[in-house]
Amino acid sequence: MKFPSEPFKIKVIERIRMTTHEEREEILAEAGYNLFLVKAEDCHIDLLTDSGTAAMSDEQWSGLVRGDESYASSRSFFRFEKVVKDLTGFPFVIPTHQGRAAEKILFSMVGGEGKTVPNNTHFDTTRANVEYTGAEAVDLAVPEASVPSNEHPFKGNMDLEALDRLIEQYGPQHIPLVMITLTNNTSGGQPVSLENIRAVRDRCRADGIPLYLDACRFAENAWLIKEREAGQENRSVAEIAREVFDCAEGCTMSAKKDGLANIGGFLGLRDEELAARARNLLVLTEGFPTYGGMAGRDMEAIAQGLQEVVQEDYLCFRINQVRRLGETISQAGVPIVKPVGGHAVYIDAKAMLPHIPALQFPGHALCIELYREAGVRTVEIGSVMFARKDAATGEEIPSELELVRLAIPRRVYTQSHFDYVAEAVVRVYERRHEIRGVRIVEQEPMLRHFTARFEPIVDK
Ligand code: F0G
Repeated sequence: MKFPSEPFKIKVIERIRMTTHEEREEILAEAGYNLFLVKAEDCHIDLLTDSGTAAMSDEQWSGLVRGDESYASSRSFFRFEKVVKDLTGFPFVIPTHQGRAAEKILFSMVGGEGKTVPNNTHFDTTRANVEYTGAEAVDLAVPEASVPSNEHPFKGNMDLEALDRLIEQYGPQHIPLVMITLTNNTSGGQPVSLENIRAVRDRCRADGIPLYLDACRFAENAWLIKEREAGQENRSVAEIAREVFDCAEGCTMSAKKDGLANIGGFLGLRDEELAARARNLLVLTEGFPTYGGMAGRDMEAIAQGLQEVVQEDYLCFRINQVRRLGETISQAGVPIVKPVGGHAVYIDAKAMLPHIPALQFPGHALCIELYREAGVRTVEIGSVMFARKDAATGEEIPSELELVRLAIPRRVYTQSHFDYVAEAVVRVYERRHEIRGVRIVEQEPMLRHFTARFEPIVDK
């Protein structure tokens, strides 16, 4: 078979509404041309994020009913804890309501002024949680990561020489931990090789620096290792994932991705003393140590989801579904980040719309166009999200990449939905010369992409 079919069938459906072109034009204007402000109901296909948007299995739904909602030491916590321990080997499991809550607790303990935290590329909440403590967050992705057309199979890798230089420059005593994000979301959902993870571990051990994982998409990363890394093809995904966790002293996890759940997360730790401190912080903002920020039913859904996510027929289908969408639009000429990563297809808007200057936001303009064309909601990962202000002049410095992410919710859409998306993307691509940029008319000083309002720039 050329393509694996969905290894599941549909038991419950949710109606989606198609809007007309005229309706979408009005919706866009009303939302200030910001897709975060468009109602989900008005999106025909919603590719805003793969986070918390998974479809749960019948086993997960039954788990919801079985959830034990006792305040302390519930059955659901022990099931959740056992699954996480079996999967990761971390002896201490701190349940949180989502990934960033685990980040907040971890960096509250190890961050602070004068500290530096390297990562292949920090996700924005990870960076924010590091910086909030006064520490510095440094991205050390390999140079291939910033070239969308480069076909390197592991563009999520950390640049080992840059890591060496950083450790030498700051001194290990100022680096509380090194983090690796699996897969590297910000640079295109690109995987990190086992070889790279082992090398970072060795480098860290030599200086006594703990290695931590941002494990959100650990299963997709493990599948891509199995597929792309010499010598790994005959190992199971669970085995590969376990070796990856064995390299680390702990992890933060958003169960909204590879937990196949709609909410939840955890902090996994090996250090008992740190775990005790984490539990104290957990009680302040999340909850008692046997539920953290979750209901018993959420922990059931995650326990089941973590077992389903390493099933190889699922991963084979999942990765190929994403890849097929990427290859279809790429064959039609649309420039995308290559190779296609784990959870999303990223269109290179800078290459597709070279006539739109960076500060007229080509990525954002493309997101608007995809919605206008077909009701497809995507997200810009470019200068609206990441432009920085020059400290001296106050001028905006555009982001290095102008990408549009088509994030694929897990098990939600079928192949015909993707045929539809591909057709919409190609149609927009064919009339790309007509697309114009946008200007911002209202914005907040921080995280402006969520709330800013825009206006289309029209030719005089
Ligand atoms: N780390 C990575 C790599 C992520 O992609 C995310 C979330 C988080 C941490 C935070 O997890 O949302 O559970 O608090 N990413 C989502 C996205 C929001 O759309 O990529 P969270």
